[in-house]
Amino acid sequence: MYPFDKLSRIELDDASDFLQHTFPFINSMDLVVQLGSGQSAGDLFDEEWGRIPLQRMPHVPAAESLAQHRMEIIWGRVGEHRALVYAGRFHLYEGYGRVPCLLPVWAAAACGARTFVFANAAGAINEDMPPGTWMIITDHINNLGVSPLAGHQHLLQTPYIDMTETYCRHMNDSVCRAAAKEGVTPQRGVYMANCGPQYETRAEVKLARNLGADVIGMSTVLEATTAKALGASVIGMSMITNWAAGIGDTHELAHQQAIETGKTCSTQLIAILRRWLTEDTAHL
Ligand code: HPA
Repeated sequence: MYPFDKLSRIELDDASDFLQHTFPFINSMDLVVQLGSGQSAGDLFDEEWGRIPLQRMPHVPAAESLAQHRMEIIWGRVGEHRALVYAGRFHLYEGYGRVPCLLPVWAAAACGARTFVFANAAGAINEDMPPGTWMIITDHINNLGVSPLAGHQHLLQTPYIDMTETYCRHMNDSVCRAAAKEGVTPQRGVYMANCGPQYETRAEVKLARNLGADVIGMSTVLEATTAKALGASVIGMSMITNWAAGIGDTHELAHQQAIETGKTCSTQLIAILRRWLTEDTAHL
């Protein structure tokens, strides 16, 4: 792990120039959606204007995703909104450091993005959140051992970011209203990110529960912290794919389960986002 690899101004400019040259009118985007394991953009767009592998972004590794993410950037229109979708992300545990995790967020923000929706797959610690549940992230615990902001003071106006309300309360409410119209009742709770790639031990899950986590995963926290630091509004949505180790009827955890549940629940995610973007985005 390279905890203090740093994003340079040149790398950031290269990546944002890439977005601007690849996608027309990107500077007018309304929001960015980043998808996780098993999740696909499916029928999100009314009009798709462009699609390109994420690995074409400068300073991002050419490697395939270990987590079997699609690793695409898709640009288009949803209702009256212009949306950029990152179908996939890099994770710290892939060993490329922080830059490939942060650059997509930083580059989109440099192109004007002010709202980010981060979706992920997670294991449930809270027994009221069985697999198949959606959880709106109200707060997070960074247990990755590294901040995405450390060493990035050359790109930030201040390194001391208020994280009291990282996830936008108003938008959480409006996403929940959109979900209800789609027949989905999301829970709300706290997401803890561990580095992975191994799943947690039972003892680690117990510790996470005692620390106040409802669900546990290996992503999102770096990206959400970065978006918050860049002044954006952030929404986080966890799709519960399994009970965390030692919870419920857990036998053995397998990534394939996340992929399979992800595929099933991906349709719900797209329906919720479409409903939200076409009917209830007063806060966007
Ligand atoms: N732990 C960590 N990450 C995960 C899990 C889990 O149980 N499920 C999906 N991503």
